[in-house]
Amino acid sequence: MAVRRIIRMGHPLLRQPARALDPEELSSDVLHRLVADMIDTLHDYGGVGLAAPQVAEPVRLAIVELSGGPSRYGPLPQVPLTVFVNPTIEVLDGESAGFWEGCLSVPGLRGFVERPQHIRVKALDLSGRPLDMTFEGFPATVFQHEFDHLDGTLYVDRITDTTKLVFEEEFERYLVPRMLDPEDAGG
Ligand code: NI
Repeated sequence: MAVRRIIRMGHPLLRQPARALDPEELSSDVLHRLVADMIDTLHDYGGVGLAAPQVAEPVRLAIVELSGGPSRYGPLPQVPLTVFVNPTIEVLDGESAGFWEGCLSVPGLRGFVERPQHIRVKALDLSGRPLDMTFEGFPATVFQHEFDHLDGTLYVDRITDTTKLVFEEEFERYLVPRMLDPEDAGG
C-alpha cells in the first residue's frame, strides 16, 4: 500500500471520461492494490472521497467515507468507507440545495454548488456484488461530486455564481463567520 500523488486541475486525465471496469477485473491484484492505495491516499490527504482519475487511473471507481457527527452543515450521517465500481446516479427528487465544496484536485479553493439532494446510487462493490443505496442532503452532494470525476467533470464546472468561488483562507475568515451568524442565515 502506498500514498499516491493526487493530480490537480489542469492535468488532462482529470478531464477524460473514465472507462467502465469489467467485472472480471475486480479480482485482479492490480485493482486491489489501486483500491488499497486510494484508501491510503484519502486518509493521508484528508477528505471524504476520492475517485480513481484523481490518482491518474482513468477507471470508473471511487471511494467515499463520511465520519458523521456534527459539522457546520448540521449533523451528518456516517457513511463507512465504501468502494463504488461503475456507479450510476438516479435523481429521486429534483429539489436541490447548495454546499461549499472543495476538492483534493483543486487545492486551496472552495466553491458553492447546488445539486439535487435525494439520489439513488447503484454500483458494484469490489467483490462484484450489486450496491443499491439512497442518500439525502450533504452525502448526496458528496456522491455527485465524486462520480462527476468519472466523467471528467470538476465541481468548478457546476458553479453558477462565480462570486462564490473563493480561497479556503478567505472562506474561513469571511464566509464561515457569516454562516454561523443566525442574523445572516442563508447569506
Ligand atoms: Ni473532487
